[in-house]
Amino acid sequence: MFTVYGHRGLPSKAPENTLASYKAASKVSGLKWVEFDVAITKDEQLVIIHDDYLDRTTDMVGEVTQLNYNELQNASAGSWFGPNFKEEKLPTFDDVIKFANSAQVNLNVELKGVTGDKGTKLSESMVTQVAEKLKVLDAHLEVMISSFNIPLVKLSERIMPKYKRAVLFKAAAFESDWRTVLEFCGSKTVNIEDAKLTQARVKMIKNAGYELNVWTVNKKLRANQLANWGVDGNFTDKADDMVHLEKS
Ligand code: G3P
Ligand code: MG
Repeated sequence: MFTVYGHRGLPSKAPENTLASYKAASKVSGLKWVEFDVAITKDEQLVIIHDDYLDRTTDMVGEVTQLNYNELQNASAGSWFGPNFKEEKLPTFDDVIKFANSAQVNLNVELKGVTGDKGTKLSESMVTQVAEKLKVLDAHLEVMISSFNIPLVKLSERIMPKYKRAVLFKAAAFESDWRTVLEFCGSKTVNIEDAKLTQARVKMIKNAGYELNVWTVNKKLRANQLANWGVDGNFTDKADDMVHLEKS
């Protein structure tokens, strides 16, 4: 078994975390999963964007949690990437569900840690809304919820226990108490950063009985190596280059 996840869609060909990017990923023959990043606005609307700020991937500036949805809904999420994508907007969560039902792809929902002074309330709202909105996803499509933010993974266990949960780790944040962190969240899946990942660490995690996925792997040789070491999947910006590794 090896799973390839289109990281933010297919961002080598279209602006990350836009419908154009997800659609491009869905056209990669054999690709079954798309990963995307969920954030929440000040007025509790779910929007899809990786960064806490609009600055890098839109033509606006500002912190997502400090803006109302009507202030960012018309931002171009594609003009930074190229003129052909200037009409792309920040997708809503509902947009992604519609896309997944139409393209028949599985979803890795990454919950972004909430910034600002209303984080607890907005985090609870985020998970509650994700749970509600996922109800219209076709029942046979698979879902993995993931986050670096432990409270969000824990809230997901409480509010939407039926979905598989993964804990995300930056390489430097993977401490020897990792099993306690996973147990606390009711998770059996580690999604770890590729940097300096060794075969010994892969073996340790796999021998302990956990699923292990690695991000973000854009070189074919490295992806082959990780698959040979027994890693279960990788997140890649170049799903079109890696999809041959997909094995059900
Ligand atoms: O979920 C894998 C990967 O997306 C985690 O990091 O920063 O790209 O959201 P990031
Ligand atoms: Mg992500």
